[in-house]
Amino acid sequence: MEHPQSDSMPQDLSEAMKEATKEVHTQAENTEFMRNFQKGQVNREGFKLVMASLYHIYVALEEEIERNKGNPVYSPLYFPEELHRRAVLEQDMAFWYGPHWQEEIPYTPATQRYVQRLHEVGRAEPELLVAHTYTRYLGDLSGGQVLKKIAQKALDLPSSGEGLAFFTFPNIVSATKFKQLYRSRMNSLEMTPEVKQRVVEEAKTAFLLNIQLFEELQQLLAEDTKEQSPSKAERLRRRVPGKITNVTPMETPRGKPQPNVLSQAPLLRWVLTLSFLVATVAAVGLYAM
Ligand code: HEM
Repeated sequence: MEHPQSDSMPQDLSEAMKEATKEVHTQAENTEFMRNFQKGQVNREGFKLVMASLYHIYVALEEEIERNKGNPVYSPLYFPEELHRRAVLEQDMAFWYGPHWQEEIPYTPATQRYVQRLHEVGRAEPELLVAHTYTRYLGDLSGGQVLKKIAQKALDLPSSGEGLAFFTFPNIVSATKFKQLYRSRMNSLEMTPEVKQRVVEEAKTAFLLNIQLFEELQQLLAEDTKEQSPSKAERLRRRVPGKITNVTPMETPRGKPQPNVLSQAPLLRWVLTLSFLVATVAAVGLYAM
C-alpha cells in the first residue's frame, strides 16, 4: 500500500516547499516589475524603491530570527554570518539615499503588511519562520544573482559592487552547496504533518507578499510617470499615517503655477455686488434730486 502522504506532499520539507511554491514562483517572475527588471528595464527610482522595501523586510525577518535562534523549530537554520542581510542593506541604503537615509527611505503599505506578517510569525507561530527564511534567502541565492548582474548593467554601477552589497554573500563560497546544506537542515526539522502543511501554506503566503509588493511598486512608478513632483513614492517618506499630503500645484502646460480660478470666484462675486450697489445708490440719489 502507498504511504498516505505520497499522494499529497513529498516527504522532505525542502521538496514539499519547492513543489508547492512552483506556481507562485512563476507568478512572481511574471509580475510586470520583475519582467521589466529581467529585460534590463529598471531605473534608479524603481531600484531604490525595491531596495528600501527589502531593508525593512530584512530588519523584521532578522529580528524574528534572533528572537527564535534558540528555538529548535528554527535553530538548525541559524546562519547569521552566511546569510544575514541587514548590515549590507544599511550600506546600500547609505549609497542610494545618502547619510540621512534613515529619515529618507520610503516605507510603503505593502512593505508594512509584509513586515507585520513577519512579526506575527516570529512572535506567535515561530514554527512557520522557516517558510519566510526559505522564500527570501534561497531566492536571493538563486535568481538574485542574475538580478545583480542586470542591475549593474542597467544602472551603470561600478563593478566594485557599490550599491549592490545586498546581492553579495562573501561568506558563502558555493551558493549551490550552501543551498544543499540549507535544504538538509530544513529536512532535519522535526514537525508533525499538520505543521508541515502550515509551513508550506506560509511559504505560498510569503511569495504572495512579495508579489503584492512588486505590484504596488509598479503602480507607484506608473503613477509617478503621470504625476508631477513630488512623486508619490517620495511622499511615502512621510511615514506618519494620514500625513501624506497632496501638494501638487496646478500646472500650466509651460509648468508655471497657475492661480485657481474657482478659488477666486467669491472675490469676483463681491466686486460685482458692490459695483451693483454703488450704481443703485447713485441712481436712487439722482432720481431723488
Ligand atoms: C525575475 C525573478 C526571478 C528569477 C529569474 C528567479 C530565478 C530562479 C531560479 C533560476 C531558481 C532555481 C535555482 C536552482 O534550482 O538552484 C530559483 C529558485 C528560487 N527562487 Fe527565484 N527567481 C525570481 C524571483 C523570485 C522571487 C520574487 C522569489 C521570492 C521572493 C524567489 C524565490 C526563490 C526560491 C525560494 C528558490 C529556491 C527554490 C528551491 O530550490 O526550493 N524567486 N529562482
